[in-house]
Amino acid sequence: MPTPHRTARQVFIFATVITALTVMMGGLVCATESGLACPTWPTCHGSQIMPGAHLPGWIEFSHRLVSGLCLFSLILAAMIQFRREERDPWLRWLPVGAVAGAIAAAILGMSIVLWGISPAFAAFDLMCSLLALCAITFATVGFLRGHFRWRWTRASSFGMVALGSLLVMHALGVLVAGKESFTRCLGWPVFALIEHDKWAGLQAARWVAAIVVIVALGVMVLAAPRLRGLLAGLFGLIIVELALGAVLMGAGPLWLRGIYSIIAGAIVALTAYASVEAGLDKRRDANPEELDEIAL
Ligand code: HEM
Repeated sequence: MPTPHRTARQVFIFATVITALTVMMGGLVCATESGLACPTWPTCHGSQIMPGAHLPGWIEFSHRLVSGLCLFSLILAAMIQFRREERDPWLRWLPVGAVAGAIAAAILGMSIVLWGISPAFAAFDLMCSLLALCAITFATVGFLRGHFRWRWTRASSFGMVALGSLLVMHALGVLVAGKESFTRCLGWPVFALIEHDKWAGLQAARWVAAIVVIVALGVMVLAAPRLRGLLAGLFGLIIVELALGAVLMGAGPLWLRGIYSIIAGAIVALTAYASVEAGLDKRRDANPEELDEIAL
């Protein structure tokens, strides 16, 4: 069945959006303590496939369903690049990296439900899912540009510093979290020591990582005028996130914690997008296949 280039574009854009949604929903599952609301896998309650009239069950089960769509679309994006014999190694292998990260996140997600996992594995799980999101975002912008010519400018360098610091900040959150602490879920640090969390030094390291993200994005605003609209939106989200953090102080109503984690996920998605937008040569290579059919 022939597939026009336009459909390939739609597959890439859909894969990026659904992966971002899966990450944000994962944060919602964690923040609303819905992780074990469906105690079996792949069904929710043994022979009962769907959750009953139980919101936490629906939050967790929806995360599974959306993650299934995420995996399917990522695999499709990777297949498209192999079928069209993409010569650029980044455009060829980034979708594969996204598939690997999402499969690892799914296996670890399933393990959380069935057996529970250690903080180290939970941090690895989170990194796999966030790196899957970064990889498909980079791959999609490259696919739409028809190349992956990266230019290390001030904007792209600080973009990668911001993205790297963001991943470190989130990984540290899982590691420093005390027992049952909300800190393990996607979210920005509150600039105060949380008593029921561990390792004050690492808690402080998270503050430093958060400040590096803010400063690096600030430099991007100055260095990349064409991204100012996107970056203004990103700063808006960061201000809301920090304000919510100050209100929550590591506790608070589940719905508000849910919003807090969703915003943190959106900040990762937009930072990845801003970084690759700044890094890739903005000239678009006309894609010879645009008029050709891509045989899947
Ligand atoms: C069948 C597949 C999956 C299952 C059963 C599953 C299950 C879970 C569970 C139970 C949690 C809550 C963990 C907690 O409370 O600490 C969670 C969180 C999460 N999941 Fe999934 N997941 C799946 C697939 C995925 C995929 C494919 C991704 C990303 C591409 C993903 C990304 C996340 C993220 C980002 C979190 C939040 C972790 C945090 O806030 O620290 N999950 N998942």
